[in-house]
Amino acid sequence: MKVTAGGDLPHGKNNHQQGTTLRSTPKTLLLVTLTLIILTVVPLYYPLHRYPSTTTTTHASATTAATISPVYHPQDEVIIINDNHHKCDVFSGEWVPNPDAPYYDNMTCWAIHEHQNCQKYGRPDSDFMKWRWKPDGCDLPIFNPYQFLEIVRDKSLAFVGDSVGRNQMQSLICMLSRVEYPIDRSITKDENFKRWYYVSYNFTLATFWSPFLVKSEEASADGPTHNGLFNLYLDEFNEKWTTQIDEFNYLILNTGHWFWRPALYYVNRQIVGCRYCQVENITDYPMTFGYRKAIRTAFKAINSREKFKGITILRTFAPMHFEGGEWNEGGNCLRKKPFKSSEITLEGVNLELYMTQIEEFRRGEKEGKEKGLKYRLLDATQSMLLRPDGHPSRYGHWPNENVTLYNDCVHWCLPGPIDTWSDFLLHMLKMEGLRSAEEKSHVKG
Ligand SMILES: *[C@@H]1O[C@H](CO)[C@@H](O)[C@H](O)[C@H]1NC(C)=O
Ligand SMILES: *[C@@H]1O[C@H](CO)[C@@H](O)[C@H](O)[C@H]1NC(C)=O
Ligand SMILES: *[C@@H]1O[C@H](CO)[C@@H](O)[C@H](O)[C@H]1NC(C)=O
Ligand SMILES: *[C@@H]1O[C@H](CO)[C@@H](O)[C@H](O)[C@H]1NC(C)=O
Repeated sequence: MKVTAGGDLPHGKNNHQQGTTLRSTPKTLLLVTLTLIILTVVPLYYPLHRYPSTTTTTHASATTAATISPVYHPQDEVIIINDNHHKCDVFSGEWVPNPDAPYYDNMTCWAIHEHQNCQKYGRPDSDFMKWRWKPDGCDLPIFNPYQFLEIVRDKSLAFVGDSVGRNQMQSLICMLSRVEYPIDRSITKDENFKRWYYVSYNFTLATFWSPFLVKSEEASADGPTHNGLFNLYLDEFNEKWTTQIDEFNYLILNTGHWFWRPALYYVNRQIVGCRYCQVENITDYPMTFGYRKAIRTAFKAINSREKFKGITILRTFAPMHFEGGEWNEGGNCLRKKPFKSSEITLEGVNLELYMTQIEEFRRGEKEGKEKGLKYRLLDATQSMLLRPDGHPSRYGHWPNENVTLYNDCVHWCLPGPIDTWSDFLLHMLKMEGLRSAEEKSHVKG
């Protein structure tokens, strides 16, 4: 990652470190790993376009693996994954062409949100769908929906955050749609709190709307920039999600763009400052002031749940790409291909937001560890910085429609670049399997 060489970075200068070679891997680990891989990796050996389109579930075993494909060598897969695990930073890399993408479209997937259904609104080009992420030190496999659903069988995953989090969930539903569609098991009619259920896999996917992560309310629908002024209670849990997480195995948190908006910052129910509120005698702080405290409070909420035992994943923010003006001043995102990592650097406010997230993540992780809780980073920022071509721009609505974000350079077209977040997520879940296998083998001695 190009950002900085700071020691706090989750990755970066670790590519020199030697990976554990297969020879030095303890036998027990290898066996456990092998079993895990056989259970979960096997469907990878179907070329993607040959996936059966039925909803039959796959219970792969070593025997069927052998008959499925004569080129199947489980050991090779073990080596590759160990390699990834020990020395490859999957979040640092480049976009490379992928003629096989996309893996769904707006006709095969109903889950695409209106404003991200770029085909429907006439986006003429399709090259932006045809890239995959290539980490510098290894390969990131394209998402395998069968494998994913096997791993999350009998489990549950919740997205907590803003509309980019919803964007990610819809991408995941579309990526899984070749295997199965979920049924709606929402407990409220509020579209911001959806609950989806995969019947064949007993897998629950939920979304909790909380763009600031903390308790907040709209103080005025207008405000200094005419897109709302918010009261943010920076030290208060947003109980709409914090009281609901206990049953979940995975939480994917995200937050970002809403902190650009004017806000009054409260601590202890007292105004301590604001962001661009234009009120006399109230200290104006940079947006990272509220951002830092809000993320800290969210992690504190998670760490304070007695019954929560899940893994907390922070999906780092995805930069927006307005050029030629701000979002409300005619700015737009018209590029047609990704940047190379040499062409753009995370800097300015984006860098500050990113570092704030990483610092607060490390802090939350440390506190969580004391309670036996796991924290992981889905570090999407660098890969998304390189994708100015993946936003809806003016293809998120009909040309004559009156919408707030006329040129949308914040969200992501589906299909599109954030389908890669499912690749990242699956990779992380596989690593999780390896880690727990390792932990078990350490316990055994
Ligand atoms: C899908 O996109 C096509 C254009 O490629 C459009 O004509 C159609 O209305 C869209 N369908 C849906 C269901 O969004
Ligand atoms: C479904 O998964 C839940 C855990 O998420 C588990 O408690 C329950 O027993 C599972 N149901 C079946 C039918 O396996
Ligand atoms: C701002 O602070 C000054 C000095 O304390 C005070 O005189 C003034 O009335 C305050 N203005 C407002 C709007 O509270
Ligand atoms: C667009 O909608 C806003 C708010 O609903 C309204 O104030 C504005 O006049 C509308 N503009 C047009 C061109 O219809």
